[in-house]
Amino acid sequence: MEVAVFGASGYTGGELIRLLTIHPVFNVVVATSREYVGKPIYFAHPHLKGLLSLKFSSLDKAMEGGYDFALLALPHGMSRDIVPKLLEIGVKVVDLGADFRLKDPDAYKSWYGWEHPYPDLLERAVYGMPELHREDIKKANLVASPGCNATATILAAAPLAKLGVDYLISDVKVGSSEAGSKPTKGTHHPERSGAIRPYSPSGHRHQVEAEQELSRIAGRGIRVSIIPHSVGSVRGAFASVHSIFEIDEGELWRAYAKFYAGEPFVRVMQKGSYPNVKSVLGSNFADVGFSSDKELARVTGFAAIDNLIKGAAGQAIQSLNIMAGLDETTGLKLPPLSPA
Ligand SMILES: NC(=O)c1ccc[n+]([C@@H]2O[C@H](COP(=O)([O-])OP(=O)(O)OC[C@H]3O[C@@H](n4cnc5c(N)ncnc54)[C@H](OP(=O)(O)O)[C@@H]3O)[C@@H](O)[C@H]2O)c1
Repeated sequence: MEVAVFGASGYTGGELIRLLTIHPVFNVVVATSREYVGKPIYFAHPHLKGLLSLKFSSLDKAMEGGYDFALLALPHGMSRDIVPKLLEIGVKVVDLGADFRLKDPDAYKSWYGWEHPYPDLLERAVYGMPELHREDIKKANLVASPGCNATATILAAAPLAKLGVDYLISDVKVGSSEAGSKPTKGTHHPERSGAIRPYSPSGHRHQVEAEQELSRIAGRGIRVSIIPHSVGSVRGAFASVHSIFEIDEGELWRAYAKFYAGEPFVRVMQKGSYPNVKSVLGSNFADVGFSSDKELARVTGFAAIDNLIKGAAGQAIQSLNIMAGLDETTGLKLPPLSPA
């Protein structure tokens, strides 16, 4: 099956291509970039030299279609006009941006500052987290892949939402690749290396999608606050999601084990051991753990992911596998790197 990658010169675009070079079914036939149009893929991604002979094409050329699936790794606000055109020519889409993640069209006005031009597509789009929406992804022609901070938060907190918490505070530590490949004052190396600092501590956009999904699991509206922290590493996102709730650790362990039973990419830690970003880097795994202090009525869920894989390209390919009727682990059984 043939695949186009839009925004292929960026970090998530590069990860999509890297992972798809070893995929037994999907073949990347189109890769877009404005800066590198006409140049081989390795001009933007030197680590992929010798692995594929494809050259970058323009967005206009890519819009002519001729492939089965499109993976969009473009900045927010770009997919909303591209997606309807691709669907019209019969291409199925996985969008890694935020343009189709939210069900409520009004939320785009308040959280992203623009009116959503295709509210009907928001209804049809499926939030691309296989652990929550596997059956809907099978039938979807548009999947909206989650943000990386939202992925870590939701995976850490989903069993807590089911247990009945009302309010979740997610403290996420995330590496610099989250901010994309174009350096800014806050993200270039001298500013970012060695940093540990919060950003967008109130109003982070991923919290609205996390709230949407965790409320759905809870079966009622619950509140979610995400406070991301920039840390000095390149890859990895780690969420510690806290709430006030009285439960002992044995019961908590059973809740996590039950929620994630049979999930191929979620590894639940044993009671008393905790996830570590270093144990998932380079892989599509999410390591999930928990802790409670019954006396203080404090409960915490943890999740460690590689933000560019389970938080982006790997999760998108997992959805793509499901949409194509393949085993969802196809091409994704990469063991984590160690040491990393
Ligand atoms: N980084 C992460 O950890 C992560 C995780 C989950 C989701 N995402 C989402 O994935 C998407 C891509 O993120 P990224 O980190 O890969 O960003 P990135 O490294 O900045 O890449 C963006 C890509 O889009 C292209 N592009 C930028 N402006 C464009 C325009 N006006 N027209 C056409 N192409 C344009 C860029 O290539 P040219 O400039 O060469 O055209 C590049 O290929 C974003 O929506 C992001 O939120 C990222």
